[in-house]
Amino acid sequence: MSNNKTVSAPSHVLPALPYAENALAPAISAKTIGFHYGKHHKGYVDNLNKLAAGTKFAELTLEEIIAATAGKADNAAVFNNAAQAWNHAFYWRSLTPKGGGKPSAALMEKIKADFGTLEDCKKELAAAATTQFGSGWAWLALDGGKLKVVKTGNADSPLTKGLKPLLTIDVWEHAYYLDYQNRRADYVGAVVEKLLNWDFAAKNLG
Ligand SMILES: [Fe+2]
Repeated sequence: MSNNKTVSAPSHVLPALPYAENALAPAISAKTIGFHYGKHHKGYVDNLNKLAAGTKFAELTLEEIIAATAGKADNAAVFNNAAQAWNHAFYWRSLTPKGGGKPSAALMEKIKADFGTLEDCKKELAAAATTQFGSGWAWLALDGGKLKVVKTGNADSPLTKGLKPLLTIDVWEHAYYLDYQNRRADYVGAVVEKLLNWDFAAKNLG
């Protein structure tokens, strides 16, 4: 976050997509990305800026806002918009054109240690994404040094439980309905096999 903002400058800006809107097709169409990024993600950032303006949250980073508002009913709207802004920025980086494939050696070793095989890891991630009831997210995350698959509802994120996310899959209907209608499993399968950015996951592993 910039420290030399003008008074009217919004605290949070919509981060650029790391690829063109049509770069994930056919797994995810340009039309879906156009709405998902240009309307939904942008909406969370805009709403957060409106809600935070003139409050103690105006000068905080997304991570700081999430930590300060998680589980607090009075700040639910701020939390939801900040967490969704963070989750979506992380989701776009979790995907890449020509993704899928195999992680690099160090991450692969970690996956084998904690899941058995890459296939087991992918199956668990896909199952979490497919079975999350209603809107939410499936994550590959580090929990105290161990890789785990977790799912969160609505805007919630593993950050609020002290976990370190490596990858995420958005399973809100807006992520897939234009392309797949109610076939969430088909969307999840395409993401896992064709789009997951294992290099991003390896960077997050550190
Ligand atoms: Fe989304």
